[in-house]
Amino acid sequence: MKSRSLVSINDYSKKEILEILELAKYFEENQNKKFFEGKVIATLFFEPSTRTRLSFESAINRMGGRILGFTDANSSSVSKGESLKDTIKTVSKYSDLIVMRHPLEGSAQYASEVSEVPIINAGDGANQHPTQTLLDLYSIIKTQKKLDDLNVFLVGDLKYGRTVHSLLMAMSNFNPVFNFISHEKLRIPNEYKIFLDNLNIKYYEHTEFTDIISRADIIYMTRVQRERFSDPIEYEKTKNTYVLKNHMLENTKDNLRILHPLPRVNEISNDVDDNPKAYYFDQAKNGVYTRQAIIASILGINKHK
Ligand code: CP
Repeated sequence: MKSRSLVSINDYSKKEILEILELAKYFEENQNKKFFEGKVIATLFFEPSTRTRLSFESAINRMGGRILGFTDANSSSVSKGESLKDTIKTVSKYSDLIVMRHPLEGSAQYASEVSEVPIINAGDGANQHPTQTLLDLYSIIKTQKKLDDLNVFLVGDLKYGRTVHSLLMAMSNFNPVFNFISHEKLRIPNEYKIFLDNLNIKYYEHTEFTDIISRADIIYMTRVQRERFSDPIEYEKTKNTYVLKNHMLENTKDNLRILHPLPRVNEISNDVDDNPKAYYFDQAKNGVYTRQAIIASILGINKHK
């Protein structure tokens, strides 16, 4: 794979996605090799993060790379009015690669156009979160032993949930059946339905899922994205629509796994955490190997050297 930015999951072909997952498996089995020695990687987080930033930083530290950046744009010259363009052009003089999270949709694409080094999109508004998707796929293949022909339930905020949008696009390479479960106001946007229609991918929309939960191979729960609502009353109306509880998993498939990009608020009850079908904390751990694979691929690092 040639060195380039990762802005959208659609930047990667099915073959390239599978190569990243293979590389992630290699890094999981060969931890702490110093493939990133001599590399400086910037992490610029204009929005809060726990898992994405820290798993990137863990991935880089474990492989001997160095990190610079900020976790709060107010601590940078953005607070003095510096533009995104000037920030990116400057940081690209100091680093070999930039990992960026930003609240504006399209910001990662813009950054990739002005940067002198590759950009990895760590989430741009409600648009895309491609590195989350690659770790989600890695979690699915680890637990299901395949990616093809799975019945995937996407539950919660399907309108603003960027992890849903990226996952839907990537899984479409693998002949899934999607069940979309959401409040009427948080339905999957039409553009994604058109995307699926063009590929002849089957999908169904629901407002309840207790009656159909026995069909699921993957249940992907998501948080209602409070920070994307312009009207706080709308958030209050929709925030606790779906709460997955342990008893709801009684008649589910043995291979079912519960995923969640996290953070969760109330959408998965704590009593699910000890169920063997709960996989969300292992999913977060898989972020380290997957992000190592993404960085290595973008920097053109060959594991056989
Ligand atoms: N999944 C995810 O993006 O989590 P953070 O917001 O904690 O990075």
